[in-house]
Amino acid sequence: MEYLPNYLAATGNTPLIALPNLTRGLEPLVLAKAEQLNPGGSVKDRIGLALIEQGEREGKLAPGGTIIEPTSGNTGISLAIAAAAKGYRLVFVMPDKVSEEKRSLLRALGAKVVICPTDVPYESPESYYSVASRLEREIPNSYQPNQYRNQANPMAHYRSTGPEIWRQTDGRVTHLVASVGTGGTITGAGRYLKDQNPDVVVVGADPAGSIYTQPDDVHPYLTEGIGEDFWPETFDPRIVDRWVTVTDREAYTMARRIAREEAMLVGSSTGTAMHAAVVVAAELGPDAVVVVIFCDTGRNYISKLYDDEWLRAHGLLDGDDPEE
Ligand SMILES: Cc1ncc(COP(=O)(O)O)c(C=O)c1O
Repeated sequence: MEYLPNYLAATGNTPLIALPNLTRGLEPLVLAKAEQLNPGGSVKDRIGLALIEQGEREGKLAPGGTIIEPTSGNTGISLAIAAAAKGYRLVFVMPDKVSEEKRSLLRALGAKVVICPTDVPYESPESYYSVASRLEREIPNSYQPNQYRNQANPMAHYRSTGPEIWRQTDGRVTHLVASVGTGGTITGAGRYLKDQNPDVVVVGADPAGSIYTQPDDVHPYLTEGIGEDFWPETFDPRIVDRWVTVTDREAYTMARRIAREEAMLVGSSTGTAMHAAVVVAAELGPDAVVVVIFCDTGRNYISKLYDDEWLRAHGLLDGDDPEE
C-alpha cells in the first residue's frame, strides 16, 4: 500500500511546469513552481506546521490552545490543515477585501473568522493586525504565530521551496521571480538558491501601491495576499536584486491568460509574479532558466478575478478580452 499519514504530509514537492503557450517567443526556459497544487491550494501550506511547532517549542501553545492569526486566507488554510492533527482551535482575522470564498472556506475548516476594514493604517486599533493582537491578549491559552514576524516562515522556504527548485532544475536556475507578502517565500527560497549559487538573480514582483516599490505612494489595490503598507520582519530586502511593479490590471490580465492559455487556474498574485517574469525574461537569452512561484489556486477568486461583471465594475476587463 502507498499512502500518506495525513493530509498535511501532502505538502511540498510541487512540480515545476513549463508554460509553452504563454512563453512562446521568449528565449529563456520559464518554469512555474506550481504551489497551487499543495493540499490547501497555496504556497502558504509550507509554513503552517513550522509556525505551530515554533509556538510549541517556545511553550506558547499547549494542548487545547487557540491559534489566532491575521491572514488574507491562505495562511489560515495552512494553519487549519496543520492544526487538525493537534486539536487546536482557530480564530482568523481578515481584511474585508478578502473574497467570500476564502472566508467560507476557513469557516468550513472549523475556524472562527473576524472581518476588519482594509482601508485603515496598520497602527489603527481597527486594523486586522491590531485586532488579532487584542484577541491574543483577551483569549486565554492563545498563540499568534504571526507570519509577519516569525522566522519559522522564511526558514520553512529555506528548508523546502529553495532546495526543491535547486534539485528540480539540476542547479541550472538563473532567476527566481516571486510576489512578496510577508516576504517569507522570496527570503527563504531566494537565500537558499543564492547560498548554492550567488549569481542567481532574485526578482520581487510588487503590486502598485505597496511599500516595497512605492514607499511614497502607498495606496489600496485589489490583488490579495501580497504587497504591504509596512515592512515585515520576515522579509529581508537585501535578497531582492531587482523589483518589478505590477498594476492590478496587468496582474489580472496575466492571471486570466494563464487560465485560458495553460488551463492553470491561479490568483492575481500569481498574475503579478508572472507579469514580472515575462518582463525579465524578455531581456534574457536561451541559457536563462527563470522559475516563477505560482502562489495559489484561482478557485479562491471565481467571484472576482474570474467574474467578468466584477472586473468590468472595477475597470479591469482587458481590451483584448474576447467577451468585450
Ligand atoms: C495569494 C498569495 N500570494 C502570495 C503570497 C506571498 O507569499 P509570502 O508571504 O511568502 O511573501 C501570499 C502571502 O500571504 C498570498 O496569500
